[in-house]
This record gives sequence, C-alpha cells and structure tokens, in this order.
Amino acid sequence: MFWKKYIWHKAAENETYLKLNRTGIGTIELNGKKICVLKQKNDWYGFAYHCPHAGAAMTESYIDLSGNIVCPLHGYKFSLKNGRSKSPEGFCLKVYPVELRKDGFYIGFEEKEK
Ligand code: FES
Repeated sequence: MFWKKYIWHKAAENETYLKLNRTGIGTIELNGKKICVLKQKNDWYGFAYHCPHAGAAMTESYIDLSGNIVCPLHGYKFSLKNGRSKSPEGFCLKVYPVELRKDGFYIGFEEKEK
C-alpha cells in the first residue's frame, strides 16, 4: 500500500482566524502558495487557489448537491476528496489535507513539494 508523506504547516491558531467568504471558502498563504480552505459538515478541505483548466480563482467556487466543488468560470466539477474531475480532459485540482488540532489549523504538503 502506498502512503503519502506530508509536512504539516500551521496556517492559523484556529478556524476563527480564517476569513471565509460568502460561499464559505477561505484563502491561506502558506509555503509560497495560496490555498483555499472549506468546511463541509464537520470536515475541512484544502485545494488549490487556481483552477487547473484556465486558472480561475477557486475562492468564487461553490459546492454542488453531490459535494463537488464547481469552478466559477466554466463549471468544471472536482471532487473535494481527491481533486479529480469528470471532464473529458481529466483535469485534477490539487488538494491538501487539513487538520484542526488542539494548537492550531494545519495544512499538509506532500513531502516532495518543497
Ligand atoms: S477555469 Fe475552471 S473550469 Fe475553466
């Protein structure tokens, strides 16, 4: 079995420090990258700030009834869990694991992403 290794970076003291927009998406700058964060039910998700199709700002995206994140520009849908899209081109939105720990809000970067 293949396990990804992550390096965890503290993004905020707690979730109240995240400034969420009207669609419930916040933006964090970490490790030189902008990352969107979103809470769905009791779980947090992290994903790339730019859409892999044509670079739209994913801060303006929304969640559809199936739980996919929908790009605001052309409407491509991506899984919040793995970033995969059902588009014929096979675009994949980069996703990041998020953990809310006792001492803060953390985002994981794959070990190779330094
Ligand atoms: S820019 Fe996101 S679907 Fe085109």
